[in-house]
Amino acid sequence: MSQTAAPLRLGIAGLGTVGVGVVRIIRRQAAMLTARTGREIVITAVSARTRDKDRGVSLAGYAWEDDPVKLATRDDVDIFVELMGGADGPAKAATEAALKAGKDVVTANKAMLAVNGQALAELAEAEGRVIRYEAAVAGGIPVVKSLLEGLAGNEITRVMGVMNGTCNYILTRMESAGLPYEDVFEEARQLGYLEADPELDVGGIDAGHKLAILASVAYGTQVAFDDMELEGIGEITIDDIRQAADMGYRIKLLGVSRKTGRGLEQRMAPCLVPASSPLGQLEGGTNMVVLEGDAVGQIVLRGAGAGEGPTASAVLSDICDIARGFRLPVFGQPAASLEAATPARSVSAAPYYLRMMLQDKPGALAKVATALGSEGISIHRLRQYDHDNACAPVLIVTHKCLRNDLDRAIEAMQATGVVVSGPVTLRIEQV
Ligand code: HSE
Repeated sequence: MSQTAAPLRLGIAGLGTVGVGVVRIIRRQAAMLTARTGREIVITAVSARTRDKDRGVSLAGYAWEDDPVKLATRDDVDIFVELMGGADGPAKAATEAALKAGKDVVTANKAMLAVNGQALAELAEAEGRVIRYEAAVAGGIPVVKSLLEGLAGNEITRVMGVMNGTCNYILTRMESAGLPYEDVFEEARQLGYLEADPELDVGGIDAGHKLAILASVAYGTQVAFDDMELEGIGEITIDDIRQAADMGYRIKLLGVSRKTGRGLEQRMAPCLVPASSPLGQLEGGTNMVVLEGDAVGQIVLRGAGAGEGPTASAVLSDICDIARGFRLPVFGQPAASLEAATPARSVSAAPYYLRMMLQDKPGALAKVATALGSEGISIHRLRQYDHDNACAPVLIVTHKCLRNDLDRAIEAMQATGVVVSGPVTLRIEQV
């Protein structure tokens, strides 16, 4: 490695938590980064929505651009570091402009890649540029690198993950403090954990974006976020958490993707996992990704999924790779060779947890059991508990069944008129 290589010049768009974190690492660790990459890594220009704001870090010596597209196309920028966010709009416009102007791109933008990843990868590869995005998935956990490099010799058989720290915080805090969802949601808002649009977190969208990106890298398929089965955590009650705990499970917003003989299965939904499993033991805002390969077996990666240091750490990993001259296609193989994924729903059977409120009258439970039985679904456990005179909360755990059969059974039980609310339907995942 030559110590005389030209400096690598960054233009950073977006000076929120992550952008400031990147500036701090580059200022604090300049000598170390040069020693490791053989090049000086310098920031030449920055851009953000507001210029006059104390960010707690000096921006002296960096040129300022109001327009991220102008920043992305400056002659003195080699890498456009996109930390603005948003699937489309300025982030996408500036990324495209950077690629067309011959710049490499490093981004933390999961939404942009989940929605526009294929088109951007094709553009990057046509221009001979790279897009790197370690920070887009699970913050500080080097999961993209693990798939692209460490597991390159494996056929990946399954990717699972708890990849939204806010949801994991809400679910684990509900359990530990015995608080209802609404109270903990408000607490998360006050702690600043929620995205500006909280639905991105609690609706499973943010975690779904991350899973869609990992699926593309893992299976050589085009990113297919629109095909993902997506459910949020808004319907989970403290009662569900307690019932699950009673049976030895914990509820997690879990992503699972698998390439099956019938297509690509991708789910991001709350489900029950064994309390004793690594995923079941995950507390608070931490993330965990479980990767399974035909040669390696299962590996588990755990760490901070958000925050200044962890996310900036991931951005620096990508910048260092580019500085070292390490280049590879955006999703690990040429974009033109990525297969269009066929969505596969309801291909793997699992036991399901159903909690519903029934009318407390003769024959109500029998109607529910008949609806399940008519679809060939057998009941494994059944519990009716704490009921008043009008309604009875009922918990059913099924034997393994297919989701489509279960959905038909639920429609039939609802049509009988005995189901007052629900059922909350959660898959019991074998992890
Ligand atoms: N809001 C995300 C989380 C971090 O709570 O994990 C950014 O993706």
